[in-house]
Amino acid sequence: MQINNNYANLKDSYLFKTITQKVNAYKTANPDANIIRLGIGDVTRPLVPAVVTAMHVAVDEMGQKESFSGYDDGGVGYPFLREAIAGYYAGYGVAVDPEEIIVGDGSKSDISNILDLFSPDARVLIPDPVYPVYVDTNIMAGRKITFMNGTAQNGFLPLPDDLENAENLSEPGFTPDIIYICSPNNPTGAVYSREQLKKWVDFAKKSGAVLFFDAAYETFVQTPGLPRSIFEIEGARTCAIEFCSFSKLAGFTGVRCGYTVVPKELSFNGQALHAWWRRRQTTKFNGVSYITQRGAAAVFSPEGFSQIKENIGYYLENAKIISATLKELGIRFTGGENAPYIWLRCPGGMGSWEYFETLLEKANVVGTPGAGFGQNGEGYFRLTAFGERENIEEAMGRITNL
Ligand SMILES: Cc1ncc(COP(=O)(O)O)c(C=O)c1O
Repeated sequence: MQINNNYANLKDSYLFKTITQKVNAYKTANPDANIIRLGIGDVTRPLVPAVVTAMHVAVDEMGQKESFSGYDDGGVGYPFLREAIAGYYAGYGVAVDPEEIIVGDGSKSDISNILDLFSPDARVLIPDPVYPVYVDTNIMAGRKITFMNGTAQNGFLPLPDDLENAENLSEPGFTPDIIYICSPNNPTGAVYSREQLKKWVDFAKKSGAVLFFDAAYETFVQTPGLPRSIFEIEGARTCAIEFCSFSKLAGFTGVRCGYTVVPKELSFNGQALHAWWRRRQTTKFNGVSYITQRGAAAVFSPEGFSQIKENIGYYLENAKIISATLKELGIRFTGGENAPYIWLRCPGGMGSWEYFETLLEKANVVGTPGAGFGQNGEGYFRLTAFGERENIEEAMGRITNL
């Protein structure tokens, strides 16, 4: 039997599975422990009322012959949602044609599935530390991955300039075909400036590479002038694909909806990737439910958006509380200002898993060991601001008293 042996090259234990196992073992041994989880990047605030109402209305519409909806436009998203998304972009000065937007069931799927458009021989450049999905999906396809170092020196924002220094690459002297960029970043919370992204755009154009820009956390950007979309950068329409999600924007982690923008100008070897992506989706996917898409469109109504902003504000306030505690304790960190993630240097020179065990056992607080995001994550730790305020305050009190 010819099976895909690339799967055998995946690391056998996914980060969060290991964490869960360790936490469960601790709970079995200490049944009374009140454990606070600041680890997994899942939201805790419920869907906002505007979304819930829109979804209720949509359910009723589906129950009536006159307003029933079947397949959407071949599985790429109903026009009402694609237009609403284009309007959202226009709201901050980015022109995107609704036809360039393809709606899917979340960024994880789109980021993975887009690889269908590229050869198994395509050379991939991925920052380290990184959202593990970029790595695993390329391993599954048997692609060769080169890592570029995100370190305290470059603020966890590697730049094309860093590629000239062989020490920053796991394989020096190669030319990438696909470059992954995540900003605001998971896990580090760092955000690229316009000037920095321009460097990546120029580099991609010069080297004939495509930029995969993961903007799953764009709504968290608060600092004026920091880019939320790669398409704010001149030249990006000929070299970049952008992935967005309603998961963190609007708490859709359990609802499932996202979208990907492939500009019509983006082509390689005379082939427009926009047409290929559309073809891929209409062949292998039949769209997101009407009810979900109505809920997603309601996010961009004035009422929906002000409710969403309140939730984002709540998480960012949590991030401020965490940041203030770390500052007081003299622990170095990045993120927390324009992202729901706080990436801290483990105190006392501890390793990532050592600090994980310390926090679990001495403070009953669960975070994510940085080592799980790549080699450069060793010695770092990720806390998320998605928890309940009360829990965040309690957890920070316990960490202070350690
Ligand atoms: C950087 C990044 N991209 C994409 C996703 C996937 O989001 P979803 O599949 O829920 O849209 C996540 C989820 O945590 C993420 O952290």
